[in-house]
This record gives sequence, structure tokens and C-alpha cells, in this order.
Amino acid sequence: MHCTGRHFLQIPGPTNVPDRVLRAMDYPVIDHRGPEFAALTREILDGLGLVFKTSGPVVIFPSSGTGAAEAALVNTLSPGDRALVFETGHFSQVWRGIAERHGLQVEYVPENWRLGASDTELESRLAADPTHTIQAVVVVHNETSTGVTSRIGALRAAMNRVRHPALLIVDAVSSLGSIDFRQDEWEVDVTVVGSQKGLMLPPGLGFNAVSEKAIAASRSAKLGRSYWDWRPVLEQNRNGFFPYTPATNLLFALREALRMLHEEGLQNVFLRHDRHAHATRTAVKTWGLEIVCEDPREYSSSMTAFFMPDGHDADRFRSIVLEHFDMSLGVGLSKLAGRVVRIGHLGSYNDLMLAATLSGIEMGLRVAGVPHREGGVTAALRSLTQDVPAAQPIA
Ligand SMILES: Cc1ncc(COP(=O)(O)O)c(C=O)c1O
Repeated sequence: MHCTGRHFLQIPGPTNVPDRVLRAMDYPVIDHRGPEFAALTREILDGLGLVFKTSGPVVIFPSSGTGAAEAALVNTLSPGDRALVFETGHFSQVWRGIAERHGLQVEYVPENWRLGASDTELESRLAADPTHTIQAVVVVHNETSTGVTSRIGALRAAMNRVRHPALLIVDAVSSLGSIDFRQDEWEVDVTVVGSQKGLMLPPGLGFNAVSEKAIAASRSAKLGRSYWDWRPVLEQNRNGFFPYTPATNLLFALREALRMLHEEGLQNVFLRHDRHAHATRTAVKTWGLEIVCEDPREYSSSMTAFFMPDGHDADRFRSIVLEHFDMSLGVGLSKLAGRVVRIGHLGSYNDLMLAATLSGIEMGLRVAGVPHREGGVTAALRSLTQDVPAAQPIA
């Protein structure tokens, strides 16, 4: 097939990189030990604090999100430490693997992949640990394999009810910059993020937003660390520098993306994602297909995952959509492989992009012969226009 126009990248990350951000990267590399660089670092670190909603430091690594996850563990924990990792889906499995390979004792809290981490389960597990042998609780905020968003505020409240001092480590890779996240208010100790989703950048940067408690823990943590060590980064960041060669052009991109998020206003960014998620679910339900997330309080605003009807392979459907309409949809991961399709509606995105995405899916269902009801796109368009204020008459 010969493709014309723009490819539709509707996987739940990497997301579409806005032209403004692409242009910001198209700039000569500068001296990473010079004054222009120090000003760049300062603007970025200030802007990131507003997005994480923290007054604490944010450590930036040239890495993917998985690297930032490893950094969160090795900076705060010691071999043999106990960590509760909530099973939410594929990405909680990734966390479990990293923790186990570092010699942590992982209690993998079994959960239904269609629901978020349970605050009552957390409370009872911590209440059963009166001598505080559990050092960390690990939760994926938005489980990108299922489209389920755990309620971090409720989990923190459960920890506080039993006055348990474990560190709260949260993976916000597919939520930050798309779904409200409140590092300080929720007393999150380490938040882990990658650049390629709500921050609208190409892949290549990893982030740890860290609390004072996490920094205190890092002083006695004994897991091996060198490249991932927060201390030299925090020390050099004070002067606007890094202890290694940073990913300069990705930092130009980050500066521009942060400006864009602040120009739109974070609250408006979240509302936009909520509207697009609601319209997407309206389409999926109208088609008569089943959304993976079972609890409407936990619906993800950054992406939607839905099941293919029995007997219809999700990967065949995705390849038909790619071949006919040049659109990439997210693959089903781990035990959802072949059964689930994931729609990314996060990052640099607008109503018409969503309308086109849903049209591509509805046409794909028809071409692939997947049984469905007509009218999903029409219902989504109605949902998108319901909350648009009527145009004011020109005076
Ligand atoms: C929730 C979540 N955690 C972790 C990761 C891993 O990030 P990366 O692929 O950048 O290493 C991803 C990637 O999609 C993710 O969605």
C-alpha cells in the first residue's frame, strides 16, 4: 500500500510529537557545561515541578521509562527489602521483574487486570505488618496494558490510616501530563515517568520526582548504583548541569513541550483528555464492544483498551487498520495478546484527530468482518459537541 498524508500513531505511547516540539529539537547542540545550558536546565526543572505538582526535585535521565523504574528502586532500597507490587497488568509485571532481579523480596499482590490497585487490600496488608518490614509499595498509576487508572489518593489515604512508613513508588509513565497527578498532595515518594507519552516528546528521557523521604532513604539504600545514582545529578543540577553528557536536543524539546502544557493550562489539558476518553468509550460501547476497565471510576483518560469479540484476532484487526488506513493501534500485551486493542488518545491530540481515529477503527471493523453495531463514530461526535459552548453572535 502507498501511504499519503500523515501516519496516525494512535498507540498509547510513543505519542504524536507536535511540530513545535520537533522544531525546538532542530537546533545546534550546545555546550552542556556552558551558561546557555544552565538556563535551559533551570527552566526545565521549574516547569517539571509544576507538572508533577511538587516542590521537590525531579531527576532526569537519558533513558526509557524502564530505566527510570530501575533508578527508583536502586536509589531507595537494599537487597532483601520487602516490596508490595500491585498486579494491575503487564507493566506491574515489568516492575516485579526489575525488583526481583535486584534481590528484593517482592509480594506481588494478585489483582484482577480489569481493576486498579485496591486500597482495602493495601490497608489490610500493611495493617498485618506492625513491625514495618515492608519498605516500599509500588503501584502503576495508569496501567497502559488495560486502560485502568488506580486511585493514588485513596491508596495514600489507606497507608496513612495504618500509619505505615513504607515508601510509595508510583509509575506515572502513561498518566503524567494527561491525567491529574499530585506528587506532594498524595505524598508520593518516587514518581517514575518517560518522555514519550503525555509530555509529547520522542522516547529517550526518564524521570524520577523524589520526596524528601525518598532522598533520606537514598542515603542508606544499599542496592548497587552508579549511572542511576540521584546524588551526583541533584548536586550538579543545582548549577544547571549534569554529571554526564545529557540528551541536549531532547531537553530543548522538553522545554518547548512544558511551555505548551503551561500555555494550555494543566487543568484544560486534563479536561481535554477526559473529553476524548469519554467520546472514545461512547464509540466503543455503541459498537457493542467491551471495554477492559470494569469500574467507571477507574476509566483511563489517556487510553482505552477493548476486547475483540471471541473468534476475532485483535492483531489481525490491527494489521487490517494499518494496511488500509495507515493507523497504528496498540497491541494486546502479555495475557491480553491477540484479545485486546488499545487506543491511545493522549498527548498532542484534538477532536478531529480523535474523529479520524475512531473512523479508522469503525471502517476497520467493517473491512475485517468483526461483528459490531453501526454508529460509534456518530455517537462520539455527538459526545464531543455536547460540551462545546455555542458560538456567540458577532456583535
Ligand atoms: C505504565 C508504563 N510503565 C512503564 C513503561 C515502560 O516504559 P519504557 O517503554 O519507556 O521503558 C511503559 C511503557 O509503555 C508504561 O506504559
